[in-house]
Amino acid sequence: MTRLRKDDLLTIGDLARRTGLSVSAIRFYEEKKLVEPLRTGGNQRRFLRSDIRRLSFVVIAQNLGLSLAEIEAQLARLPQGRTPTAKDWKAISTAIRSVIDARIATLQRTRDKLDGCIGCGCLSLRNCQLYNRDDEAGESGAGPRFVLA
Ligand code: FES
Repeated sequence: MTRLRKDDLLTIGDLARRTGLSVSAIRFYEEKKLVEPLRTGGNQRRFLRSDIRRLSFVVIAQNLGLSLAEIEAQLARLPQGRTPTAKDWKAISTAIRSVIDARIATLQRTRDKLDGCIGCGCLSLRNCQLYNRDDEAGESGAGPRFVLA
């Protein structure tokens, strides 16, 4: 392991300031083992500077709609106790690329269709009779079929 300098280690307050997360949120993620602090001789928590990126990834992934279990699975790929390398992060980036691509596709369909028929089965707009005649979209399942596909 690379030798750590004193300023490579952050208190939980430092980490909260840098990530924008509350201390209680960081403790929650610690309980979930998404970050694992080191302990000083006096048994105080110290986080690696790279935990800023780890927790920022958690925030981004949650905003993308990944479940905590999915995030845990991705972060389990990263080493604990050392700063992840670009190669470590590349593996995660590759793994969630399909999730991001699917979110982008859904957002684009939503942008393009929300003001018209979304295939929800309501047939309430005049043009639904054209786009979703006889509620054909309902045969493929519940919900807004033209958007969530
Ligand atoms: S908007 Fe609901 S079926 Fe068209």
